[in-house]
Amino acid sequence: MSELDKEIHRRRTFAIISHPDAGKTTLTEKLLLFGGAIHVAGAVKSNKIKKTATSDWMEIEKQRGISVATSVMGFEYDGYKINILDTPGHQDFAEDTFRTLTAVDSVIIAVDVAKGVETQTRKLMEVCRMRKTPVMIFVNKMDRDGKDPFDLLDELEEELKIKVRPLSWPIDSGQSFRGVYNLYQEKLDLYTPSKQTVTESIEFKDINSPELERHIGDSLAAKLREDIELIEGVYPELDIDTYLQGEVAPVFFGSALNNFGVKELLDCFVKIAPSPRPIEAVERVVKPEEEAFTGFIFKIHANMDPNHRSCIAFVKICSGKFERNVNYKHVRFNRQMRFSSPTAFMAQKKETVDEAFAGDIVGLPDTGNFKIGDTLTSGEELHFKGLPSFSPEMFKYIENADPMKTKQLQKGIDQLMDEGVAQLFVNQFNGRKIIGTVGQLQFEVIQYRLLHEYGAQCKWEPINLFKACWIESDNEDELENFKKRKSQYMAKDKEGRDVFLADSNYVLMMAQQDFKDIRFHFTSEF
Ligand code: G4P
Repeated sequence: MSELDKEIHRRRTFAIISHPDAGKTTLTEKLLLFGGAIHVAGAVKSNKIKKTATSDWMEIEKQRGISVATSVMGFEYDGYKINILDTPGHQDFAEDTFRTLTAVDSVIIAVDVAKGVETQTRKLMEVCRMRKTPVMIFVNKMDRDGKDPFDLLDELEEELKIKVRPLSWPIDSGQSFRGVYNLYQEKLDLYTPSKQTVTESIEFKDINSPELERHIGDSLAAKLREDIELIEGVYPELDIDTYLQGEVAPVFFGSALNNFGVKELLDCFVKIAPSPRPIEAVERVVKPEEEAFTGFIFKIHANMDPNHRSCIAFVKICSGKFERNVNYKHVRFNRQMRFSSPTAFMAQKKETVDEAFAGDIVGLPDTGNFKIGDTLTSGEELHFKGLPSFSPEMFKYIENADPMKTKQLQKGIDQLMDEGVAQLFVNQFNGRKIIGTVGQLQFEVIQYRLLHEYGAQCKWEPINLFKACWIESDNEDELENFKKRKSQYMAKDKEGRDVFLADSNYVLMMAQQDFKDIRFHFTSEF
């Protein structure tokens, strides 16, 4: 194996996703502790932004600034290079999370044992399913009373629409939680309440050994054997390939806060989670082991300080090796660019790096050269497939409130959309601009940033819309007919694609019924 291959195969790039409060921050922190990346608990607080009142977005932005450092957390563990990509906890920034998911090779989902599958988890899982991202599930807060584990497994399968396979199994729960049987490593992991140290782990290959009674008592031992028999009967043995294809999710139980079950999760994760996977570009499939560097921008983080208008563009390296001060092609501009201070992210420190490998993320200081989805290569004309846009949930007309600053407004809107702050649609009937977002906060962010960074003033006007659907059809006549009939509701997105703005679910259903040859998509990637 070449050096390059070795570097790539030891990389694990993933994100932890969950509904707010399920324990993502705590789990991240414990993983970093294992990697020696941090030394004290309580160091990862960036996700706490979600706890702020929704109206206080300035506070949120301030903290978002801090979170640049935790956008990517890299660390070494057991010979593996692990990159955790942070995702914003606040649901109004869900679009950021969707995009981050395009840059990971796998995902860990944290679920609260008492709450089960919650809305945001469900939504994020849809994105994983679309992309066939392998997922592992960590059922957290086992030290608290929660749902029956078998019921929970059923719920996970039903709600997340994925098969599951437990790799550890809890012994009692809540106050009387005793630990887990680790089916993956064949170990008995005993939990000591209120002791925040690493699990006491005992080799335990034969669950029928009377030793089990000695550790957990007669009734729990009997129950555990019964449960395990049921599991082995109901859930087929984990087939790594089906996990890698995103069809089966291994499940672990534990308590992140008590650092229980986390190391077991990590040990299994590094062994079975995928190293960087081939990525589809428009022209061809790009394999990570290819010598030539390729990558794409999946996130742009703007510095909100008007005196230092600069951004960091985050590049996911898809193949080969990225090097400092080497010329690369910015495909959209057809121009060579080189970067003298690319940063990598180790633990919570940003540092300049000389080289990085497929799977890694590097941050490039940017002054407006990049937009989300841009491709960089060693010279090849290559376009990584667009990151999906999802139909926004909220829409408003954006109007110019200061006629002297029309140009500034135009530029501001363009750049903010390139950064992926929200989506712009231009109504083809009246030429008015419509901004679509997933949350109210984004409107406030846009208005503030237009004023402070571009000196432009905007105002919002209400528009009653239900969904934006990207439409396509092989039947040209029907498509033309549809566009004519619905001309008042037709818009173009930033890429010039046709979008139908449905003002109600009923209208949308009628349209789908009346125009059978037209496909209505709720994401821009189809
Ligand atoms: P999030 O990033 O997914 O939103 O969740 P976070 O880790 O912030 O955890 C949410 C709350 O749940 C925190 O409590 C955290 O301490 C608690 N928690 C996490 N894991 C466990 C666990 O295994 N058992 C129990 N009992 N609690 C857990 P908080 O009071 O909201 O925050 P904090 O003041 O403790 O930081």
